[in-house]
Amino acid sequence: NWTMSQFVDQEIARIRALVGETGQVIGAVSGGVDSTVAAKLMKEAIGDRFHAVLVDNGVLRLNEAKQVKETLTAGLGINLTVVDASELFLGRLKGITDDPEKKRKVIGNTFIEVFQAEAKKIADAAHGSANEGEVEWLLQGTLYPDVIESISFKGPSATIKTHHNVGGLPASMKLKLIEPLRELFKDEVRELGTNLGIPEDLVWRHPFPGPGIAIRILGEVTAEQVRIAREADNIFIQEIKDAGLYRKISQAFAALLPVKAVGVMGDKRVHDQVIALRAVETSDFMTADWFPFDGEFLKRVSRRIVNEVDGVCRVVYDITSKPPGTIEME
Ligand code: XMP
Repeated sequence: NWTMSQFVDQEIARIRALVGETGQVIGAVSGGVDSTVAAKLMKEAIGDRFHAVLVDNGVLRLNEAKQVKETLTAGLGINLTVVDASELFLGRLKGITDDPEKKRKVIGNTFIEVFQAEAKKIADAAHGSANEGEVEWLLQGTLYPDVIESISFKGPSATIKTHHNVGGLPASMKLKLIEPLRELFKDEVRELGTNLGIPEDLVWRHPFPGPGIAIRILGEVTAEQVRIAREADNIFIQEIKDAGLYRKISQAFAALLPVKAVGVMGDKRVHDQVIALRAVETSDFMTADWFPFDGEFLKRVSRRIVNEVDGVCRVVYDITSKPPGTIEME
């Protein structure tokens, strides 16, 4: 579409003019559509002078860090550093059993800390090299609705948005913001992504919260709980894709409940954990309806999760709309 390729050319020219011949830009990526599209645009504009950082917080989806790395580096040619901080995050989440907001705070603050340290490393390396300029810019994948919201609305969702943002960088770095998507709506970002050659499954990926599956593990987040939630989620999403429902559903995931139930596996009784499946349709994420799967689909997913995921003996389906429920369970 001509308007989109025009936008790409214009934006690349604008970025080059802003950053200059030697300027460097850093930015956090998550593997989601916004940060990937923004990163690819930077790569097209200034090549390896854009430094992408993916922080593995230990609560990403199954194999996600590895997949994002492959897509961004091998697939899209983006200069990416993956920082594996799983153990640091899991260590700090230890003992938080009944306070979802505390999980969010711990993850948000740890993210900033890890990203800052990496940004400083990249800046120092650029500073020391003869032919590279200073790191002066921070990329953010802010969309138009985020801009509007931060101007006109300072309600509860301001808390949510803080997790998307990489605030609080060291004052000594004095980074200027570069926001190439700030005039676009989500559907335009998707169109732009397709135009830039980003794979379809990434362009249409469901939103994933900054605190990741930590807020989908009700109760304490431990390595073992993460394993269970991840494996169940992976089966659910795979079945949704195989059934051709992924794009019809706005967001879907498996959550791990903080209770145990009795079941029979083979010929013995077990006392194991319960997985709750959640899938919603929504246009704005402010209200949402649960998705009406057919019984055969749910039967298949339930059977697979109980058979394939060690530690789970029961699966339930969440039939709460928003409101009164939220999309996430914590
Ligand atoms: P709720 O659960 O509030 O979710 O109905 C609405 C949308 O926001 C996402 N969400 C978050 N995203 N950090 C994020 O980056 C968070 O702490 C967070 N909490 C909820 C949720 O996944 C849904 O898309």
